Amino acid sequence: MNNHVPGVFFEPSTRNFRLRTRQAAYVFRVNDSRVLEHLYWGPFLPLEDEEDLSYLSLSSVPGPFDPRGVISVATMMGLNELEDLADENDLRERWKVYTKAKDSAEDRVKSRRLENASWRLWSMERVRGGDLNKDLSEGVMLRALGESQSKDENSMDKGFEVNDDGNNLESLNLDVPRVKERPPSPLLIPGQRIVSKETKSSPKLSPKKSGSAGNYDIVHVDDPTEVTNWQKLDPDVIGKNTQLLEFADQGTGDYRSPSLQVRYEDGSTLSPVYYFRHRILKGKSWMPEFFPNIYLSDPSEATTLVLELHDFVTGLVVELHYTVMHDYNAICRHVVFMNNGDSSVSLQRVMSCTVDFDTDDYYLTQLSGSWARERQVVQTRLLDGITAFQSGRGASSHQHNPFAIISCGAPNEEYGTAFGFSLLYSGNFQFEAEISETGRLRVNLGINPQGFVWNLEPGESFCSPECVLVFSDQGVGGISRELHRLFCEHLIPQRWRNFVPPVLINTWEAVYFNISHEVVVELASKAKEVGIELIVLDDGWFGHRNDTTSSLGDWYPNPEKLPYGLVGLSKEIHAMGLQFGLWFEPEMVSRDSELYSLHPDWCLHIPARGRTVGRNQLVLDLSRAVVRDYIFNQLSNILSSCPIEYVKWDMNRHLTEVFSQDWPASRQGEIAHRYVLGVYELLGRITNAFPHIVFETCSGGGGRFDAGMLYFAPQIWASDNTDAVSRIYIQYGTTLAYPTCCIGSHVSTIPNHQTLRSTSMKTRSLVAMCGTFGYELDPRQLSEDEKGEIAAYIQLYKRLAHLIRNGILYRLWNPFLSSSAAWMFVNNDASQALVFAFNIRREVGRLLPRLLLRGLCYETVYEVEELCPGKLVRNIDTGAIMLDPRGVYQYGENKKLLLSGRTLCCAGLPVKFLFDADSVLFELKGTTSALSSF
Ligand code: GLA
Repeated sequence: MNNHVPGVFFEPSTRNFRLRTRQAAYVFRVNDSRVLEHLYWGPFLPLEDEEDLSYLSLSSVPGPFDPRGVISVATMMGLNELEDLADENDLRERWKVYTKAKDSAEDRVKSRRLENASWRLWSMERVRGGDLNKDLSEGVMLRALGESQSKDENSMDKGFEVNDDGNNLESLNLDVPRVKERPPSPLLIPGQRIVSKETKSSPKLSPKKSGSAGNYDIVHVDDPTEVTNWQKLDPDVIGKNTQLLEFADQGTGDYRSPSLQVRYEDGSTLSPVYYFRHRILKGKSWMPEFFPNIYLSDPSEATTLVLELHDFVTGLVVELHYTVMHDYNAICRHVVFMNNGDSSVSLQRVMSCTVDFDTDDYYLTQLSGSWARERQVVQTRLLDGITAFQSGRGASSHQHNPFAIISCGAPNEEYGTAFGFSLLYSGNFQFEAEISETGRLRVNLGINPQGFVWNLEPGESFCSPECVLVFSDQGVGGISRELHRLFCEHLIPQRWRNFVPPVLINTWEAVYFNISHEVVVELASKAKEVGIELIVLDDGWFGHRNDTTSSLGDWYPNPEKLPYGLVGLSKEIHAMGLQFGLWFEPEMVSRDSELYSLHPDWCLHIPARGRTVGRNQLVLDLSRAVVRDYIFNQLSNILSSCPIEYVKWDMNRHLTEVFSQDWPASRQGEIAHRYVLGVYELLGRITNAFPHIVFETCSGGGGRFDAGMLYFAPQIWASDNTDAVSRIYIQYGTTLAYPTCCIGSHVSTIPNHQTLRSTSMKTRSLVAMCGTFGYELDPRQLSEDEKGEIAAYIQLYKRLAHLIRNGILYRLWNPFLSSSAAWMFVNNDASQALVFAFNIRREVGRLLPRLLLRGLCYETVYEVEELCPGKLVRNIDTGAIMLDPRGVYQYGENKKLLLSGRTLCCAGLPVKFLFDADSVLFELKGTTSALSSF
């Protein structure tokens, strides 16, 4: 039934666009002012209603102080009526008719307007040297609209009064600004770059290579519908400040935070853009190469709407791209700006999406924190004014994440309406939630405008990062599950989709910089004994690096530490039956390095000013192609020199002195963004060149954990804090936006190096299992017991990995709201599940609530088995803690429960924790037994 068909639908009679995702509709329309008015985002509505939701505009009540709206230029000029005059072909004739008609007509104002409009059109054709007998085609009208817009704006209040001669004097001023013919849209030119005049080599501008993931060379124009109905639809034209908008300009009456800020050469900053036309495309529109985006496996998976908005005075064209993912409740948005005018324009603020909401009691959920405390869940009620968070550090940052959820009412994990926003971007970003004076909410998400200025010369264009919008009527959990599925199936490189990475051990927390051939071989052989499959040689293997003061940029093995080179080491590791991984920090340079002495100008800096170091290092200027090429070659040489199966790509400081030697003064405001584009290009080239290598990105722990990075690498190191309890918070928070399979997580030694806390091997293992699962400890120090435990947990992980990585996640207990955490993974047909529960701080004598499960089939009977029982038991008479080698079970040794899904979800499982950081793991298997009664 059409009612459930996803896609993009346009209803010309109401100028109404419906973007239908799997279960939700996103609706807006073109109003009489040619402005895009947002109407609705929520569950599907009956088709007839969805096609005309203009009644919702009635909630837009203008305030006494609100500026008036701008009515359609077409309406204002009487162009609609002109077109209706079917029996007259000649513009001059029309003008004559209207000139004569005006004296006798009853409605003198209307007649004068018609006369005026026909005169203007005729005059313009004459100036243009055009065909004066030409039909009043839509093309003529649109061009006329463009050319007359500047006058219309100025004379709006005058209502186009004509003078006594019957001529509008203004219309005779022939010196109207011209809008140049727009070049064909890049959407229609497969493989052609958008920007025509750029001469600098820019990562953003490189032409698309065919077959790159996520883009299609042939973009099929499915329904090039033109708007033909310009009959007045609005009962009254109201100002922009009163309306819900899809794209908000600045300075023409909307006082909320805009989608766009520009500055023209004459110093003016207005950017009113009006609907011009739209296209509906099968699949997805073109994006520049190496631009993170939600990719498709087949064009039938999505439909894209491209709306073209014009500033008729300056020639700035704005394309709003909306891609509806048919199988998700997700819409991808990005914006392309094209300068089709004659002079340059600087873009000072470009939001990837603006979403306006009608009034409600809104709450914001964000992921914020610091180094070693990343992505903590922060929830706030939105009050009047702007609530914002951002990064200005050059990376998405430890401090805030380019992700947010807006909930109607207090956020709930399972229930209620929620809207998710994820920006596929790894640099400076900004999220704003603004409650206006009416109580309405505007959300903006895009590049952080602070310090951002992009110079757009005539003929050039700029593409914003992509933003994903997700709807959920199942609370915060619904947003997470939708994003997890989307990111696993359409963001993480396709080749890693159903992959279980080898269990690895990393040398960092084992020996830090004290690596050598012998040490690594020794660590590897001990690791091999317990079942570890890959060893990662972390920091310290290159140049003459023994601490953080040197060698970044000198990507060749340290001959003293590695006398047989990487080749010899890799060979020995592989001979043991292990795989080999390597750490790089490609974006950085140490002052004490050969690279720096050869090219001291290759780092971000401002000549004659100091260079701020962080962790004793400087940031390479990746906006420069020469630097990118050099690093690419260095890395390629190493990666092709010997078998290497894994790379950890680190980035251990944020940007300062953001200035490039390669770009003119007018382009310095672009460098922070060009840096990110440079990182993307470098990562893209390297991962394409070595498609068999698993890349894990990292930034001083989890300082660049974002959807932009996931486009290139399937996993990200979540935090330098490897303490299991700290990790419960970090990983719980991370799952709000990102799937479990991409969360880099290792078992480390005790006491933990970041917190000095000691937790059981069981808890450390269960926490690390809810991530990529690896080790970050010295296996030479392990006791025989510990070795046995590790070997058993590795076996267990191998058995459960598929369900953990591909299962549907339900979070059960929120550690930010209680002293325990729990979550579960359920397979697609709900026949299997795993339940993890962790205690953080045990309140002695206090009992826990029953753990209510989710996502199960109510009718199925499940066998519930506790895996890896605890080993410690408390003597309740004395209080003494004793070891019980038989295992300490929740429900008694070898006791399995047989319970229906309904009972498990409604009555739940009792859980007891014995000590701080205790944990429990249940495995659920659906049986064939039927429920006897209900
Ligand atoms: C960062 C990473 C660590 C480790 C060190 C090495 O801090 O997050 O895991 O690789 O760098 O210097």
